[in-house]
Amino acid sequence: MRILSGIQPSGEPHLGNYFGAMRQHVELQAKGEAIYFLADYHSMTSIRDPAERRRFTRELAIDYLGLGLDPERAILYRQSDMPEVCELAWLLTTVTPMGLLERAHSFKDKVAQGLAVNHGLFAYPVLMAADILLYNADVVPVGQDQKQHLEMTRDIAGSFNHTYECSVFKLPEPMILEDVAVVPGTDGRKMSKSYGNTIRMFAPQGEIKKAVMGIVTDSTPVEQPKDTSSALFQLWALFAEPHEREVLFACARRGGLGYGDVKKDLLARVLTHFAPLRERREAWSRRADDVEDVLAAGARRARALGRPILDAARDAAGLGPST
Ligand code: TRP
Repeated sequence: MRILSGIQPSGEPHLGNYFGAMRQHVELQAKGEAIYFLADYHSMTSIRDPAERRRFTRELAIDYLGLGLDPERAILYRQSDMPEVCELAWLLTTVTPMGLLERAHSFKDKVAQGLAVNHGLFAYPVLMAADILLYNADVVPVGQDQKQHLEMTRDIAGSFNHTYECSVFKLPEPMILEDVAVVPGTDGRKMSKSYGNTIRMFAPQGEIKKAVMGIVTDSTPVEQPKDTSSALFQLWALFAEPHEREVLFACARRGGLGYGDVKKDLLARVLTHFAPLRERREAWSRRADDVEDVLAAGARRARALGRPILDAARDAAGLGPST
Protein backbone atom coordinates (compact mmCIF):
# COMPACT_ATOMS: atom_id res chain seq x y z
CA MET A 1 0.00 0.00 0.00
CA ARG A 2 1.43 3.35 -1.02
CA ILE A 3 0.37 6.22 1.22
CA LEU A 4 0.93 9.83 0.24
CA SER A 5 0.16 13.20 1.73
CA GLY A 6 1.36 16.76 1.42
CA ILE A 7 1.51 19.33 4.16
CA GLN A 8 1.59 23.05 3.56
CA PRO A 9 4.28 24.92 5.46
CA SER A 10 2.30 27.69 7.08
CA GLY A 11 4.04 28.50 10.33
CA GLU A 12 4.27 26.72 13.64
CA PRO A 13 1.89 23.79 13.89
CA HIS A 14 -0.83 23.69 16.51
CA LEU A 15 -3.05 21.09 18.12
CA GLY A 16 -5.50 21.37 15.23
CA ASN A 17 -2.79 20.30 12.76
CA TYR A 18 -1.54 17.62 15.14
CA PHE A 19 -4.83 15.89 15.87
CA GLY A 20 -6.20 16.66 12.41
CA ALA A 21 -3.42 15.10 10.35
CA MET A 22 0.17 15.06 11.60
CA ARG A 23 -0.31 12.41 14.26
CA GLN A 24 -2.05 10.07 11.83
CA HIS A 25 0.66 10.61 9.22
CA VAL A 26 3.29 9.44 11.66
CA GLU A 27 1.19 6.43 12.69
CA LEU A 28 0.61 5.45 9.07
CA GLN A 29 4.32 5.04 8.34
CA ALA A 30 4.05 1.59 9.90
CA LYS A 31 1.18 0.56 7.63
CA GLY A 32 2.73 0.85 4.20
CA GLU A 33 5.10 2.77 1.98
CA ALA A 34 4.54 6.31 3.23
CA ILE A 35 5.51 9.36 1.18
CA TYR A 36 5.14 12.81 2.75
CA PHE A 37 6.19 16.08 1.26
CA LEU A 38 6.47 19.68 2.40
CA ALA A 39 4.23 21.48 -0.07
CA ASP A 40 6.31 24.57 -0.73
CA TYR A 41 5.03 24.96 -4.30
CA HIS A 42 1.49 25.00 -2.94
CA SER A 43 2.46 27.60 -0.35
CA MET A 44 3.26 30.00 -3.21
CA THR A 45 -0.46 30.58 -3.68
CA SER A 46 -0.49 32.37 -0.33
CA ILE A 47 2.99 33.05 1.14
CA ARG A 48 4.97 35.76 -0.67
CA ASP A 49 8.02 36.09 1.53
CA PRO A 50 10.83 33.80 0.30
CA ALA A 51 12.70 33.76 3.61
CA GLU A 52 9.50 32.87 5.42
CA ARG A 53 8.75 30.05 2.97
CA ARG A 54 12.24 28.56 3.52
CA ARG A 55 11.96 28.86 7.27
CA PHE A 56 8.44 27.41 7.47
CA THR A 57 9.46 24.52 5.20
CA ARG A 58 12.54 23.66 7.26
CA GLU A 59 10.66 23.98 10.51
CA LEU A 60 7.92 21.70 9.24
CA ALA A 61 10.51 19.04 8.41
CA ILE A 62 11.85 19.34 11.94
CA ASP A 63 8.34 19.15 13.38
CA TYR A 64 7.67 15.88 11.58
CA LEU A 65 10.98 14.40 12.66
CA GLY A 66 10.22 15.51 16.20
CA LEU A 67 6.80 13.89 16.08
CA GLY A 68 8.46 10.61 15.22
CA LEU A 69 8.55 10.41 11.46
CA ASP A 70 11.23 7.84 10.78
CA PRO A 71 13.25 8.83 7.72
CA GLU A 72 14.53 5.27 7.33
CA ARG A 73 11.01 4.11 6.84
CA ALA A 74 8.92 6.95 5.41
CA ILE A 75 9.97 9.21 2.56
CA LEU A 76 10.06 12.89 3.54
CA TYR A 77 10.92 15.40 0.87
CA ARG A 78 10.50 19.01 -0.13
CA GLN A 79 8.02 19.31 -3.00
CA SER A 80 10.21 21.74 -4.98
CA ASP A 81 13.07 19.21 -4.96
CA MET A 82 10.86 17.23 -7.35
CA PRO A 83 10.13 19.80 -10.08
CA GLU A 84 8.87 16.88 -12.21
CA VAL A 85 5.57 17.46 -10.44
CA CYS A 86 5.16 20.75 -12.32
CA GLU A 87 5.59 19.00 -15.63
CA LEU A 88 3.01 16.43 -14.71
CA ALA A 89 0.69 19.23 -13.58
CA TRP A 90 0.89 20.65 -17.12
CA LEU A 91 0.04 17.30 -18.70
CA LEU A 92 -2.93 17.04 -16.36
CA THR A 93 -4.10 20.62 -16.69
CA THR A 94 -4.71 20.10 -20.41
CA VAL A 95 -7.20 17.30 -19.67
CA THR A 96 -8.92 19.13 -16.80
CA PRO A 97 -12.23 20.78 -17.70
CA MET A 98 -12.58 24.39 -16.56
CA GLY A 99 -15.96 23.53 -15.07
CA LEU A 100 -14.35 21.03 -12.70
CA LEU A 101 -12.07 23.68 -11.22
CA GLU A 102 -14.82 26.28 -11.12
CA ARG A 103 -16.78 24.02 -8.79
CA ALA A 104 -13.96 23.80 -6.20
CA HIS A 105 -15.25 24.91 -2.79
CA SER A 106 -11.92 26.21 -1.55
CA PHE A 107 -11.49 28.41 -4.60
CA LYS A 108 -15.08 29.65 -4.45
CA ASP A 109 -14.66 30.46 -0.75
CA LYS A 110 -11.61 32.58 -1.47
CA VAL A 111 -13.46 34.45 -4.21
CA ALA A 112 -16.43 34.95 -1.87
CA GLN A 113 -14.08 36.37 0.78
CA GLY A 114 -13.03 38.96 -1.78
CA LEU A 115 -9.39 37.81 -1.85
CA ALA A 116 -7.29 38.72 -4.87
CA VAL A 117 -7.12 35.24 -6.37
CA ASN A 118 -4.38 34.17 -8.76
CA HIS A 119 -4.31 31.44 -11.36
CA GLY A 120 -2.18 29.27 -9.09
CA LEU A 121 -5.00 29.18 -6.59
CA PHE A 122 -7.43 28.21 -9.33
CA ALA A 123 -5.09 25.50 -10.62
CA TYR A 124 -4.20 24.29 -7.10
CA PRO A 125 -6.25 21.06 -7.42
CA VAL A 126 -4.34 20.13 -10.58
CA LEU A 127 -0.98 20.46 -8.83
CA MET A 128 -2.39 18.41 -6.00
CA ALA A 129 -3.54 15.75 -8.47
CA ALA A 130 -0.01 15.72 -9.92
CA ASP A 131 1.45 15.23 -6.42
CA ILE A 132 -0.64 12.14 -5.95
CA LEU A 133 -0.58 10.66 -9.44
CA LEU A 134 3.18 11.07 -9.83
CA TYR A 135 3.51 8.10 -7.48
CA ASN A 136 0.22 6.37 -8.21
CA ALA A 137 -0.53 6.56 -4.51
CA ASP A 138 -3.19 4.13 -3.28
CA VAL A 139 -4.37 6.04 -0.24
CA VAL A 140 -4.22 9.69 0.56
CA PRO A 141 -4.85 10.58 4.20
CA VAL A 142 -6.27 14.09 4.36
CA GLY A 143 -8.73 16.08 6.40
CA GLN A 144 -12.37 16.46 5.47
CA ASP A 145 -11.65 19.84 3.83
CA GLN A 146 -9.56 18.12 1.15
CA LYS A 147 -12.16 15.55 0.16
CA GLN A 148 -13.33 17.42 -2.90
CA HIS A 149 -9.75 17.88 -4.08
CA LEU A 150 -9.32 14.12 -3.98
CA GLU A 151 -12.46 13.55 -5.96
CA MET A 152 -11.05 15.95 -8.53
CA THR A 153 -7.82 13.94 -8.60
CA ARG A 154 -9.79 10.84 -9.50
CA ASP A 155 -11.64 12.73 -12.25
CA ILE A 156 -8.40 14.14 -13.66
CA ALA A 157 -6.70 10.71 -13.61
CA GLY A 158 -9.67 9.19 -15.40
CA SER A 159 -9.70 11.99 -17.94
CA PHE A 160 -6.01 11.48 -18.78
CA ASN A 161 -6.37 7.71 -19.11
CA HIS A 162 -9.45 8.17 -21.28
CA THR A 163 -7.98 10.91 -23.49
CA TYR A 164 -4.82 8.96 -24.24
CA GLU A 165 -6.42 5.51 -24.12
CA CYS A 166 -3.99 4.32 -21.51
CA SER A 167 -3.97 3.16 -17.91
CA VAL A 168 -1.00 5.18 -16.67
CA PHE A 169 -2.81 6.49 -13.59
CA LYS A 170 -4.44 4.65 -10.73
CA LEU A 171 -7.46 6.27 -9.14
CA PRO A 172 -6.44 6.93 -5.50
CA GLU A 173 -8.69 6.22 -2.54
CA PRO A 174 -9.29 9.04 -0.13
CA MET A 175 -8.70 8.25 3.51
CA ILE A 176 -10.53 10.92 5.38
CA LEU A 177 -9.10 11.55 8.81
CA GLU A 178 -12.25 12.13 10.80
CA ASP A 179 -10.98 10.64 14.01
CA VAL A 180 -10.90 14.12 15.46
CA ALA A 181 -12.94 16.07 12.96
CA VAL A 182 -12.67 19.56 14.38
CA VAL A 183 -10.31 20.59 17.15
CA PRO A 184 -11.78 23.61 18.93
CA GLY A 185 -9.61 26.66 19.40
CA THR A 186 -9.26 28.64 22.62
CA ASP A 187 -12.26 30.79 21.64
CA GLY A 188 -14.52 27.83 20.79
CA ARG A 189 -14.33 28.24 17.02
CA LYS A 190 -12.38 25.74 14.91
CA MET A 191 -8.67 25.96 15.83
CA SER A 192 -7.03 27.90 13.03
CA LYS A 193 -4.05 30.17 12.65
CA SER A 194 -6.26 32.70 10.89
CA TYR A 195 -8.48 33.02 14.00
CA GLY A 196 -5.53 33.48 16.36
CA ASN A 197 -7.03 30.84 18.68
CA THR A 198 -4.34 28.16 18.47
CA ILE A 199 -2.32 26.21 21.00
CA ARG A 200 1.08 25.61 19.41
CA MET A 201 2.50 22.45 20.88
CA PHE A 202 6.17 23.35 20.36
CA ALA A 203 5.87 26.95 21.60
CA PRO A 204 7.76 27.93 24.76
CA GLN A 205 6.00 26.48 27.79
CA GLY A 206 4.96 29.91 29.06
CA GLU A 207 3.10 30.54 25.85
CA ILE A 208 1.32 27.20 26.01
CA LYS A 209 0.32 27.98 29.57
CA LYS A 210 -1.07 31.35 28.55
CA ALA A 211 -3.07 29.82 25.71
CA VAL A 212 -4.53 27.03 27.87
CA MET A 213 -5.39 29.36 30.75
CA GLY A 214 -7.00 31.67 28.21
CA ILE A 215 -9.47 29.09 26.87
CA VAL A 216 -12.82 30.82 26.88
CA THR A 217 -15.30 29.49 29.43
CA ASP A 218 -18.66 30.77 30.60
CA SER A 219 -19.48 32.12 34.05
CA THR A 220 -21.14 28.97 35.44
CA PRO A 221 -20.21 28.85 39.15
CA VAL A 222 -18.05 25.95 40.37
CA GLU A 223 -20.89 24.04 42.02
CA GLN A 224 -23.17 24.15 38.95
CA PRO A 225 -23.23 21.49 36.17
CA LYS A 226 -20.98 22.23 33.17
CA ASP A 227 -21.48 21.82 29.45
CA THR A 228 -18.97 19.18 28.35
CA SER A 229 -19.33 20.10 24.68
CA SER A 230 -17.43 23.33 25.33
CA ALA A 231 -13.92 23.93 23.95
CA LEU A 232 -12.18 23.31 27.30
CA PHE A 233 -13.67 19.85 27.84
CA GLN A 234 -13.30 18.84 24.21
CA LEU A 235 -9.62 19.84 24.20
CA TRP A 236 -9.06 18.07 27.50
CA ALA A 237 -10.66 14.91 26.11
CA LEU A 238 -8.08 14.77 23.31
CA PHE A 239 -5.45 14.02 25.96
CA ALA A 240 -7.45 11.55 28.01
CA GLU A 241 -8.28 7.85 27.85
CA PRO A 242 -11.97 7.01 27.29
CA HIS A 243 -12.48 5.92 30.91
CA GLU A 244 -10.90 9.09 32.30
CA ARG A 245 -13.15 11.06 30.06
CA GLU A 246 -16.25 9.33 31.38
CA VAL A 247 -15.23 10.08 34.94
CA LEU A 248 -14.43 13.73 34.36
CA PHE A 249 -17.47 14.40 32.20
CA ALA A 250 -19.76 12.80 34.81
CA CYS A 251 -18.16 15.00 37.42
CA ALA A 252 -18.66 18.10 35.25
CA ARG A 253 -22.33 17.31 34.70
CA ARG A 254 -22.86 16.79 38.41
CA GLY A 255 -21.36 20.15 39.35
CA GLY A 256 -18.55 20.97 41.76
CA LEU A 257 -15.80 20.94 39.14
CA GLY A 258 -14.13 24.29 38.46
CA TYR A 259 -12.86 25.34 35.06
CA GLY A 260 -9.52 26.43 36.56
CA ASP A 261 -8.74 22.91 37.76
CA VAL A 262 -9.60 21.43 34.37
CA LYS A 263 -7.31 23.97 32.69
CA LYS A 264 -4.44 23.11 35.03
CA ASP A 265 -4.88 19.44 34.33
CA LEU A 266 -5.10 20.04 30.59
CA LEU A 267 -1.89 22.09 30.69
CA ALA A 268 -0.07 19.30 32.52
CA ARG A 269 -1.30 16.76 29.99
CA VAL A 270 -0.27 18.87 27.00
CA LEU A 271 3.20 19.42 28.42
CA THR A 272 3.67 15.77 29.36
CA HIS A 273 2.39 14.48 26.04
CA PHE A 274 4.73 16.66 24.01
CA ALA A 275 7.79 16.59 26.29
CA PRO A 276 9.57 13.67 24.56
CA LEU A 277 8.55 14.93 21.13
CA ARG A 278 9.80 18.39 21.94
CA GLU A 279 13.12 16.94 23.06
CA ARG A 280 13.50 14.95 19.85
CA ARG A 281 12.51 18.01 17.85
CA GLU A 282 15.14 20.11 19.58
CA ALA A 283 17.78 17.48 18.89
CA TRP A 284 16.96 17.58 15.17
CA SER A 285 16.91 21.35 15.11
CA ARG A 286 20.52 21.36 16.29
CA ARG A 287 21.46 19.15 13.31
CA ALA A 288 20.59 21.33 10.33
CA ASP A 289 22.82 19.38 7.93
CA ASP A 290 21.22 16.09 8.89
CA VAL A 291 17.78 17.52 8.23
CA GLU A 292 18.94 18.56 4.75
CA ASP A 293 20.35 15.07 4.22
CA VAL A 294 17.01 13.54 5.15
CA LEU A 295 15.22 15.75 2.63
CA ALA A 296 17.80 15.09 -0.09
CA ALA A 297 17.58 11.33 0.43
CA GLY A 298 13.79 11.63 0.45
CA ALA A 299 13.82 13.43 -2.91
CA ARG A 300 16.09 10.76 -4.37
CA ARG A 301 13.78 7.99 -3.27
CA ALA A 302 10.74 9.94 -4.48
CA ARG A 303 12.34 10.49 -7.87
CA ALA A 304 13.06 6.78 -8.29
CA LEU A 305 9.35 6.11 -7.80
CA GLY A 306 7.94 9.09 -9.68
CA ARG A 307 10.16 9.44 -12.71
CA PRO A 308 9.00 6.22 -14.45
CA ILE A 309 5.37 7.25 -14.01
CA LEU A 310 6.00 10.70 -15.46
CA ASP A 311 7.84 9.04 -18.37
CA ALA A 312 4.89 6.72 -18.99
CA ALA A 313 2.54 9.72 -19.02
CA ARG A 314 4.81 11.61 -21.44
CA ASP A 315 4.96 8.60 -23.70
CA ALA A 316 1.19 8.07 -23.62
CA ALA A 317 0.68 11.73 -24.56
CA GLY A 318 3.14 11.56 -27.48
CA LEU A 319 5.81 13.76 -25.93
CA GLY A 320 9.47 13.14 -26.77
CA PRO A 321 10.89 10.60 -29.20
CA SER A 322 8.91 7.40 -29.62
CA THR A 323 9.97 4.59 -27.35
N1 TRP B 1 -3.99 20.71 -0.18
C1 TRP B 1 -3.47 20.04 1.00
C2 TRP B 1 -3.83 20.89 2.23
O1 TRP B 1 -3.94 22.08 2.14
C3 TRP B 1 -1.99 19.85 0.93
C4 TRP B 1 -1.62 19.00 -0.22
C5 TRP B 1 -0.97 19.40 -1.35
C6 TRP B 1 -1.86 17.60 -0.34
N2 TRP B 1 -0.79 18.34 -2.17
C7 TRP B 1 -1.31 17.23 -1.60
C8 TRP B 1 -2.48 16.65 0.48
C9 TRP B 1 -1.40 15.91 -2.05
C10 TRP B 1 -2.56 15.33 0.02
C11 TRP B 1 -2.03 14.97 -1.23
O2 TRP B 1 -3.95 20.32 3.30
